[in-house]
Amino acid sequence: MTINTATAGGVASIEIARPQKKNALTLAMYEAMTDAISAAVADQTVRALLIVGQPGIFTSGNDLEDFMQRPPTGEDSPVLRFMHALVACAKPVVAAVTGAAVGIGTTMLLHCDLVYVSADARLSMPFVSLGLVPEFASSLILPRLMGHAKAAEKLLLGEALTASEAADFGIASAVLPADAVLAHARRMAERFNSLPPGAVRETKRLMRSSSKDGILHAMRAEAAVFAERLRSPEAKEAFEAFFARRKPDFSKF
Ligand code: COA
Repeated sequence: MTINTATAGGVASIEIARPQKKNALTLAMYEAMTDAISAAVADQTVRALLIVGQPGIFTSGNDLEDFMQRPPTGEDSPVLRFMHALVACAKPVVAAVTGAAVGIGTTMLLHCDLVYVSADARLSMPFVSLGLVPEFASSLILPRLMGHAKAAEKLLLGEALTASEAADFGIASAVLPADAVLAHARRMAERFNSLPPGAVRETKRLMRSSSKDGILHAMRAEAAVFAERLRSPEAKEAFEAFFARRKPDFSKF
């Protein structure tokens, strides 16, 4: 199993643990994370969720081999079910990020509540260079957070956000030394144990409610284009180049 789950001290943790593939997320891993979110929401003893990666790598995003062989086909696909579960999660979600967070590794953070990143964290969304388009409502949320021109550097050019940029733009709650991120994130998650859960739940709902419809609309619109783009010759070239460890050649398109 490449997703480890555990519940302790009122916190349900979801650990992405596939370091040999830089924590790339397979369909089975999305399913395991979705199940873990549902179980945590249903468990009365759980006050917060904690999503963590491995030292030096949060996740390299979707497994690119899965994208080629088992692309998402609709709302029922494991990746979309995971996205909807995270967006709908009624309990606070805390993320601890060290090192690289690529693709959905970054876009999922936009739907977490507290996000702690290491000083060396790099948050990137290289969708365009893979022949793809943004997902998880990042095409809506990023321009809102940082303005169109800055978001264009991140989404059109695929430039990574540094840890301090992530904090400045409100994607990260705080930047910490790499060896302190996990313990700090857990301490913050445990703080919900001493807070009234109903007030926490309602406050999270209110904070998210004004943008919820727009987010769901953007997720659907992005998913439709994303599925088309996955079948494009541009994506085929980008994916083949990644696995052949060569530079992609987009000059023919
Ligand atoms: N999907 C599938 N396999 C992946 C992967 C992914 N997203 N990311 C890394 N891997 C695999 C590599 O193919 C390699 O496998 P191998 O050892 O069998 O050859 C292994 O993980 C190690 O990756 P490597 O690229 O050698 O590590 P690195 O430290 O040089 O670079 C990254 C790390 C994360 C910068 C780099 O792996 C990367 O860019 N990955 C792709 C990220 C991406 O485009 N994600 C999709 C976004 S939509």
